Amino acid sequence: MRLAGKVALVTGAGRGIGAAIAAACAREGARVVVADLDAAPAQDVAEALCKAGGAALPLTMDVTDRSQIEAALDAAVAAFGHIDILVNNAGVSVPAMIETMTPAQWDTALAVNLTGVFHCTQIVGRHFLARARAMPAVRCNGKIVNVTSIAGLRGTIGQINYAAAKAGVLGITMSAAREWGRYAVNVNCVACGLVETRMTETIRTDPRFADQYRKQIVLGRYAAPDDVAPAVVFFASADADYVTGQILNVCGGADIHV
Ligand SMILES: NC(=O)c1ccc[n+]([C@@H]2O[C@H](COP(=O)([O-])OP(=O)(O)OC[C@H]3O[C@@H](n4cnc5c(N)ncnc54)[C@H](O)[C@@H]3O)[C@@H](O)[C@H]2O)c1
Repeated sequence: MRLAGKVALVTGAGRGIGAAIAAACAREGARVVVADLDAAPAQDVAEALCKAGGAALPLTMDVTDRSQIEAALDAAVAAFGHIDILVNNAGVSVPAMIETMTPAQWDTALAVNLTGVFHCTQIVGRHFLARARAMPAVRCNGKIVNVTSIAGLRGTIGQINYAAAKAGVLGITMSAAREWGRYAVNVNCVACGLVETRMTETIRTDPRFADQYRKQIVLGRYAAPDDVAPAVVFFASADADYVTGQILNVCGGADIHV
């Protein structure tokens, strides 16, 4: 129960990696705010967590809309008193080759995957800072864990918008860690490789891509969402109270493949 007594807000928690992170946080004792653009999957995930004996609040929240994030923060504080952990997980893929990508495709990927992380970090981060000012002696006043991709570290094909946004998340992680270290707010990042979710369905099932991508993974298999969640729990827990500004690649060694 490494997160006992903590409250975690997970964005994009209705499906895939976010749902696995929400479940892992609940198993470790956290009360979880299950925030997602889509109401029904958020509701389903929260219900499952409650049935398993946890406490969860489903919220419809678009990370590109500051008023919805502010409303979600208020609802979370009303339900659970405070937030200790923010997991910036919501993301979208809007693929196109560079030469055909439209400005709208570029903008959508950046709005969700990068600017959405900034909005949530700033709005929930202000809540952490207010707690830090009220209780300056506390060892940790908040944890932010960002979910990014190794596409942000080494590029990718057919998603320059996504790679640029995910590289930007690394910059947000290190900058927020440097600015907020003095408030004992830790900011870290998990960089995934290829995870079996809705987002990667085409890559994993289309014979033109499937083998090619799997061969780049040293461990020889795609990740399950549950392969990623423990890294997020580590950063969110007291085990990582002295860790900030770091990137942990959870990608089966795809980052070291030649
Ligand atoms: N699947 C992979 O291989 C992989 C690899 C690297 C990084 N990631 C990252 O992991 C995160 C989760 O992706 P996933 O694979 O679980 O995808 P997914 O599509 O299964 O789930 C993403 C969730 O985010 C929600 N979402 C989308 N836009 C949103 C918005 N504007 N506001 C709030 N919620 C929104 C969706 O409704 C969905 O429930 C993303 O940031 C993604 O970029 C995934």
